[in-house]
Amino acid sequence: TIRFAIFASGNGSNAEALYQATKEGHLHGEVVGVFSDKEEAFVLERAAKWDVPTAQLSPKAFASKVDYEQAVLDQLRSWQVDFLVLAGYMRLIGPTLLNAFPNKIVNIHPSLLPAFPGKDAIGQALAYGVQVTGVTVHLVDAGMDTGPILAQRAVEVQATLEQTEACIHAVEHELYREALDQLWNEERMK
Ligand code: GAR
Repeated sequence: TIRFAIFASGNGSNAEALYQATKEGHLHGEVVGVFSDKEEAFVLERAAKWDVPTAQLSPKAFASKVDYEQAVLDQLRSWQVDFLVLAGYMRLIGPTLLNAFPNKIVNIHPSLLPAFPGKDAIGQALAYGVQVTGVTVHLVDAGMDTGPILAQRAVEVQATLEQTEACIHAVEHELYREALDQLWNEERMK
């Protein structure tokens, strides 16, 4: 089975949805660890409840990004990770991790990329005045929210920001599982 680590910086609602999907047999993979760059990330409390190992490292504690990612990589090796699944990990992936996991890092982003990359994509889309936005799942390359698209789904802008956010998050939780399940089915056929 595919062994994956979830990378998250915050709440972890996508992490929660993916973990539950593995438990319910809707996603054929195993969450072997949760990694966060943020000490206060709520995702770490979620993972403790699931009884999944966690690791937290702060980039500021390292002399360079290479040193930081090397330490992350050591942790991933000990978990014997096949895929990295970014779920609100708000940091660019550098060459150390990209080279160690070529085409094996996946990200989800709350817009129809290439529109509105970066932080606060939902806020950016509403500020622009779009009527339709959405969700993208893609393979990660060196850019910010760039790389080959695996799946996209459109979401209509709702009357309030809160309603639009709720719709987008609901779509994320479903689309991420579907896209990963398809990717890993293809991986198993190789
Ligand atoms: C999600 O909406 C995800 O798409 C976004 O962060 C949120 C994390 O929510 N990621 C990005 O913006 C990446 N550039 P969660 O912590 O509840 O899963």
